[in-house]
Amino acid sequence: MSTKRVVIAALALVFLAAPLFGQTSVSAKLAPTPPMGWNSWNKLACNVSEGVIKQMADAMVASGMKDAGYQYVVIDDCWQVSRDAHGEIVADPQRFPSGIKALADYVHSLGLKFGIYSDAGSKTCEGRPGGLGHEYQDALLYAAWGVDYLKYDWCNTTTQDAKASYANIRAALDAAGRPIVLSICEWGTAKPWLWGKEVGGNLWRTTGDIKDQWEGKIKWDDGSCCGYGVVNILDMQVGLESFAGPGHWNDPDMLEVGNGGMTDLEYRSHFSLWAILAAPLMAGNDLRSMRPEIRDILTNKEVIAINQDSLGSQGKRVSKDGDREVWAKQLKDGSRAVIFLNRGPAEQSMIVTWEEIGYPEHLSATVRDLWQHKDLAKTTGTFGATVPSHGVVMVTARP
Ligand code: GLA
Repeated sequence: MSTKRVVIAALALVFLAAPLFGQTSVSAKLAPTPPMGWNSWNKLACNVSEGVIKQMADAMVASGMKDAGYQYVVIDDCWQVSRDAHGEIVADPQRFPSGIKALADYVHSLGLKFGIYSDAGSKTCEGRPGGLGHEYQDALLYAAWGVDYLKYDWCNTTTQDAKASYANIRAALDAAGRPIVLSICEWGTAKPWLWGKEVGGNLWRTTGDIKDQWEGKIKWDDGSCCGYGVVNILDMQVGLESFAGPGHWNDPDMLEVGNGGMTDLEYRSHFSLWAILAAPLMAGNDLRSMRPEIRDILTNKEVIAINQDSLGSQGKRVSKDGDREVWAKQLKDGSRAVIFLNRGPAEQSMIVTWEEIGYPEHLSATVRDLWQHKDLAKTTGTFGATVPSHGVVMVTARP
């Protein structure tokens, strides 16, 4: 081969192989800030139907969640029952009599986006048909239905390679021609933060499933192991901050806010921490019957603004002294969001130094409380506050 031909062949290879080695052009434009929405699993598990999903979408609008930035309505496991003679996946005809396309159309008519769930293996975690061997066929169908977001689970994958499996579904989605957010649900086993962006994932779970509890590694009702409490999941996020950014986020699992297993104060802490982690904010409670206190947590626009800050920097733990932790996140305008977290059983006073949040000591900054919605002080060098047990104080420091 002539040199010219070798160069052309090499260039062609680079272009053809590009999607395999870099974030694909489709995926890179999706989820510039952490996705916000609602997912059926934490509240409904397999009790999904078109009626209930429509009601949740309606409630997302009526409750002010849509105005606060929530966008995706995602049906998790159990919408699917079989494959037909052509291998097409079939939605449960009893629970979704109008079909998934009609439901997606309804969600879109409210100005919201529509998401669905499948699995990289032969079966989903609830034993429904998985995507293995049907990736391109399923992607075409999802695109035709108007799917905007696909959560792809990892049950029943036997010896499959995680990175290759997720690269495959991303390629299938891209080939189907509709921009679809890819939510990698691999539970952190194969360290998806190391390859999730490269294969065009827009978010990836970093841990096993969350449980509606403050603390602990807890067996599920059927005796299988285990769900994790909020602070246990939090501990597993330490050190992952450099892997997140616009279009590709660490996912410490969906929100349990409002599901009844924690106090309102603990839910406020859970929400604040997920916000500062730049985590996807996928509500998982019954939006139709939220108490005002729960709605006020989920729609706190000042806290959501920290999560959705366009710099896309994930907050990190900047100090830990026993049960007292300080978390901080840099914002686009140069200010910092700071959380004092008290994991202990009694009220404690806490302090952060400017050095810990990357400010020179002499800098004067206005500190604003994001739950009290008021400016607290103009201060130099440090800021301190008293924090209740299992509570947070969340502020911004603006020079
Ligand atoms: C796994 C996932 C959960 C949920 C269930 C559905 O456990 O991690 O988030 O999707 O499967 O079966």
